[in-house]
Amino acid sequence: MIARDIIKKDNFSHADIENLLSVDSDDDVQLISDYAGSVLLNHCGNAVHLRGLVEASNVCRCDCNYCGIRKSNIKNDRYTLTNEEILECALLIRDLGYGSMVIQSGERGDKKYLDMIIKTVEDIKKLTKSEALPDGLGITLSIGEQSHETYKRLFEAGAHRYLLRIETSNPELFAKIHPAGQSFQSRIECLDSLRDIGYQVGTGVMIAMPDQTISDLANDILFYRDRDIDMIGMGPFIAHPDTPTGKRESDPDCKISWSKSDKVRLTLLMIACTRIVLKDVNIASTTALQTLDPLGREKGLKCGANVIMPQTTPPSKRRNYFLYPDKSNADENALEFRKKLEDRLTEIGRILHKDSWGDSLHAVNKLKNDNKGN
Ligand code: 5AD
Repeated sequence: MIARDIIKKDNFSHADIENLLSVDSDDDVQLISDYAGSVLLNHCGNAVHLRGLVEASNVCRCDCNYCGIRKSNIKNDRYTLTNEEILECALLIRDLGYGSMVIQSGERGDKKYLDMIIKTVEDIKKLTKSEALPDGLGITLSIGEQSHETYKRLFEAGAHRYLLRIETSNPELFAKIHPAGQSFQSRIECLDSLRDIGYQVGTGVMIAMPDQTISDLANDILFYRDRDIDMIGMGPFIAHPDTPTGKRESDPDCKISWSKSDKVRLTLLMIACTRIVLKDVNIASTTALQTLDPLGREKGLKCGANVIMPQTTPPSKRRNYFLYPDKSNADENALEFRKKLEDRLTEIGRILHKDSWGDSLHAVNKLKNDNKGN
């Protein structure tokens, strides 16, 4: 079956998604992207939701084989923002009209840090209340695997969305890109915990890693669907020279490795196919995509993404959060970015959703249906 027929189906098999992800002519990619754009418009409208991104700490207990802030990368200067510094970011985000923020950091289990984040979430909720935002900023957390108890405390403090990427839904590939101590199963258990507690749950994968196949990517989309995920953040893998997976990409032994143009195409196709299959979830157009293509952010939005996460860590505090080289937002100026944003979105027929949490409609619709059932 050809792409034009597959996209119109109601139910998608693994083979359907694999076929869509395998197209490589510009015309086919355009066809799939355009269709994803119309699915977005029909199910979610043309709003783009903003989340001011705050990179709270690059200290990390993990040693993920692909990541520049892995514990054993001694070239990193480690930093942690204070409660006051994060509050300052939150006020800036509110004043920019973004409505929501993401607090992201390396994974840490130390009590001092977790207590600081919990208090900071509580403070932000109190401090950012305004006429436009009576319940304060929406807060998404992305601070890795934590205990059920910690997730609960963070939720009770006021965070209502959580992002925890599965990185790949293929357990063997997961094992290849993580050290022995980190397990696929425990990540799944964390996603379950987050759901049980009541968070809107986000996950995602890296696209076009060494040894990753298109069949793996098709399974990633089925994973999102089958686990009823509300929000997706995914981007291309970018080789970091100081990491094992980064080195593997250029190893002659590595049978499957992807070029830069493959990475951009596959990321856009993954966004488009995720939109076509899942319909009403939130999908981010990520920094990693923008890093590989200067128009990446807009291209991601055009093929079905509806969330962007502008860099809002104050530049003087923004140090060493180098998950991968040449990260595009490292020099982004929050005010300059904000000034140009509205025009850039208008140019592509989209509107900036100001002063709003911009929750995933998938989550909102589920809640409505649950309430009806009770
Ligand atoms: N290339 C692309 N994305 C990366 N991440 C970490 N390292 C890389 C890399 N080399 C992503 C992971 C992680 C998120 C915080 O950043 O998906 O979950």
